[in-house]
Amino acid sequence: MKILILPDQGDATIRAADMICESMAARARTVLGLATGGTMEPLYAELVARHRQGRLTFADARSFNLDEYVGLAPRHPQSYHSYMHRHLFAHVDFAPGATALPDGSAPDPDAEADAYEARIAAAGGIDLQLLGIGRNGHIGFNEPTSSLCSRTRVKTLTESTRAANARFFAEGEEPPTCAITMGLATILDARQVLLLAFGAEKAPAVRAMIEGPVSAFTPASVLQMHRRATVILDQAAASMLELREYYHTVHPDGAPALV
Ligand code: GLP
Repeated sequence: MKILILPDQGDATIRAADMICESMAARARTVLGLATGGTMEPLYAELVARHRQGRLTFADARSFNLDEYVGLAPRHPQSYHSYMHRHLFAHVDFAPGATALPDGSAPDPDAEADAYEARIAAAGGIDLQLLGIGRNGHIGFNEPTSSLCSRTRVKTLTESTRAANARFFAEGEEPPTCAITMGLATILDARQVLLLAFGAEKAPAVRAMIEGPVSAFTPASVLQMHRRATVILDQAAASMLELREYYHTVHPDGAPALV
């Protein structure tokens, strides 16, 4: 794992946007794996700004999102479809039909999950998968005890995840109890992964992911098995890492490695 610790979230977001631009420049028809959550909002704002400045185009790219709530139609304001439209898709130049999320309103969510996994494979797999991390160590909606070999499927959300995500829902509206999510093996298949985590509330999960054992109890720890995984942190999210000084030495302020 490449651990980049940036001075603050703003610097970290710029570094992540640079990596996405490099990956898209290196491969004309990039397949992006996209994520949702508060962490991604400034990153998408940065990508939109670069697009408006003529520095970044999505015209030849495709995308697959990690997950979607079961029971929310794409047009529901709290669906991840709506989130992606609001923060990215409405403002950049993806070709029609080039972006995909699981359909949370599909009559048979299990069949929808299987079909989504097949669509990713048919597109040739994901080149760069973006990830956030839940406070309990989840990635996508792979909650603790998710199989390390899991594929896209329906997962029941933990109460802590529903409570953390309740802030995005209107008062009196409950977050759904289930989601369709790419599995951990689906995520590991991506040719490169880029996980972002900011703030002290993520520090315990970040520590468990990077320095703990590979364990289904911390689903993000499976990234220790990936050959090209980069983790971009701010100081607060990195604060509990035992080898923090070492990561700084290798990549001072998130810079490329010293030779
Ligand atoms: C949700 C998403 C995850 C995301 C997590 C953290 O549970 N399914 O993909 O990483 O939230 O979100 P935030 O960035 O808001 O902390």
